[in-house]
Amino acid sequence: MIILGIESSCDETGVAIVEDGSKLLENKVASSMSVHSEYGGVIPEIAARAQLEYIIPVISEVVDKFSRENLVGWDAIDGIAVTYGAGLSGSLLIGTLAARTLAITKNKPLYSINHVEGHVYANFLNEKQPEFPLLSLIVSGGHTQLVLFTNHFEYRVLGQTVDDAIGEAFDKVAKILGLPYPGGPSVSMAAKLGNDNKFNFPKPRLDHKYNFSYSGLKTSVLRRAQSEVGADYQLSSTLLPEMLNEEQKNDIAACFEKTAVSIVVEKTIEAFNEYTPKSVVIAGGVAANMRLRNDLAQSLPINIDYAPPYLCTDNGAMIATLGCYKAMAGIPPVDPKNLAIEPNLKM
Ligand code: KG4
Ligand code: ZN
Repeated sequence: MIILGIESSCDETGVAIVEDGSKLLENKVASSMSVHSEYGGVIPEIAARAQLEYIIPVISEVVDKFSRENLVGWDAIDGIAVTYGAGLSGSLLIGTLAARTLAITKNKPLYSINHVEGHVYANFLNEKQPEFPLLSLIVSGGHTQLVLFTNHFEYRVLGQTVDDAIGEAFDKVAKILGLPYPGGPSVSMAAKLGNDNKFNFPKPRLDHKYNFSYSGLKTSVLRRAQSEVGADYQLSSTLLPEMLNEEQKNDIAACFEKTAVSIVVEKTIEAFNEYTPKSVVIAGGVAANMRLRNDLAQSLPINIDYAPPYLCTDNGAMIATLGCYKAMAGIPPVDPKNLAIEPNLKM
């Protein structure tokens, strides 16, 4: 089963070809991230325009390379999978329209993919497949969730964030410290140079044991930064990057990262003890975080096979992989003439 996957929910245009849900044959990601960096966050109109510019060249490059290397053509591709939500409307429209057009003109079945569920499937691109029951910690710019899969397509959301997502917290803390967007990698880099015992940031207490909250931690970081420069809560956060010195920034980044990571690690361990899954995976952009990978591996009694970081952030490979599993399970494809985007799609 060979599936072409298309991902265009935000600022990445990802296209990939996956065989049998476990073998990555081709993979290409184009990104408009560098343009958004100048603004400190993704600008939806710019992201959509970039999707329009990249989508056909990236699909062509991937399909041409696959055809050349395997001496085959479109005939060898069994179906197309595309993200139809959640994400930015303009960006989603470009990928879904491209996929729908190809499905019609090349006469291929079309599979619609939930972006967040797709992130989990980056972990199946491996010779050794995760086993069910499978506990997945989904940590991205838009989501923080613990999801228990009893089988493919059968899952239960154990808990999720009640406010900000963990990736969003990294991005907001980067802004407070004057570090570049996206905040995950830049905060992490600063954190490596800082003292993670310098400040104690509080962890949230929530009624539901598997829910998460990150807005309080973000506010604690802001208050700490203001008091470090001798100001009170009225000081505008936009002035902080110039007023904080390198050591203060690194220490705040280190203490924030330690707390942000320990919140998700502790809940994952608690869920592991309650549900005793056979496998644990982490998914989404924040799964690229080295501290999270190390801390979780040290706390879990079972081995955890992490997907490589380039498959944790947005890509077409995870979409093609989930598409393979849908096709292999005989799930009926969608009508390419009628596939609508769902920007607020939930798991
Ligand atoms: O999954 P993703 O590429 O897009 C969404 O679906 O949201 O995740 C993007 C998020 C951003 O918030 C980014 O700051 C975060 O993932 N991120 C990281 C790291 N790399 C990316 N967070 C922490 N550490 C990283 N190394
Ligand atoms: Zn994502």
